[in-house]
Amino acid sequence: MNVILLGAPGSGKGTQAAKLVDTYAMVHISTGDMLRAAVSAGTTLGVEAKKYMDSGELVPDKMIIDLIKDRLGKDDTGGGFILDGFPRSTSQAIALDEQLAELSRSIDVAIAIDIDPETIVKRICSRRFCPACGRTTTASEGDTCIICGCKLEARADDKEEVVRKRLEVYEQSTAPLIDYYRGKGILHSIDGDRPVDTVWADVQKIVSGN
Ligand code: AP5
Repeated sequence: MNVILLGAPGSGKGTQAAKLVDTYAMVHISTGDMLRAAVSAGTTLGVEAKKYMDSGELVPDKMIIDLIKDRLGKDDTGGGFILDGFPRSTSQAIALDEQLAELSRSIDVAIAIDIDPETIVKRICSRRFCPACGRTTTASEGDTCIICGCKLEARADDKEEVVRKRLEVYEQSTAPLIDYYRGKGILHSIDGDRPVDTVWADVQKIVSGN
């Protein structure tokens, strides 16, 4: 099964994607994670992308579309994948349709996670990640990762003013994709303002077709 997770920054896409990976062994394709890896590695793409990411703007389509084209072409995606953070604009969605048609594949479901913007600001400002094991958690866990003991960090773009810009960009560029996938008859909307496992129960029902 091939799934798109749609939703504003902080709506819980990455959290639910991790559960899909654990349960269904699907491949998680997160453009945000791929870009952050490029930034950490100091590649040409990373250096260019960082300017946009730090200010909450979208990275130009050309860079992202090439990145996704390369990733979707890899053999491991044949057993099912989750797109998290892509597509983020109508032009990216059209490019994705073209790439999938070339690969004789398609998207089975698009899941939109709905959530109130003010809840998002609170959530993102308290998000932390472990640079060693890659786990995402919240500031309520304390300063160190409960799994590997490393110091937890905040993402560079999780400052309140950048979060508000990201929300603005989401409304302008990405929210219209909800209608795009509704038009294709594959959209499912769920309430993301509930505990993680309650949201997950809905995601599981959609993915398992129950
Ligand atoms: P990206 O990394 O994709 O960020 P995002 O879409 O802004 O989403 P987030 O990762 O912030 O949130 P999430 O929905 O995954 O929430 P999470 O599960 O972590 O993109 C970053 C930047 O890269 C963009 O701004 C852009 O510049 C660039 N970029 C990426 N893709 C691009 C593209 N296609 N085109 C152009 N540019 C692109 O949860 C958030 C927090 O809430 C966590 O602490 C979590 O523990 C907690 N949480 C999750 N669920 C719940 C729940 N149900 N209840 C309580 N807390 C919860």
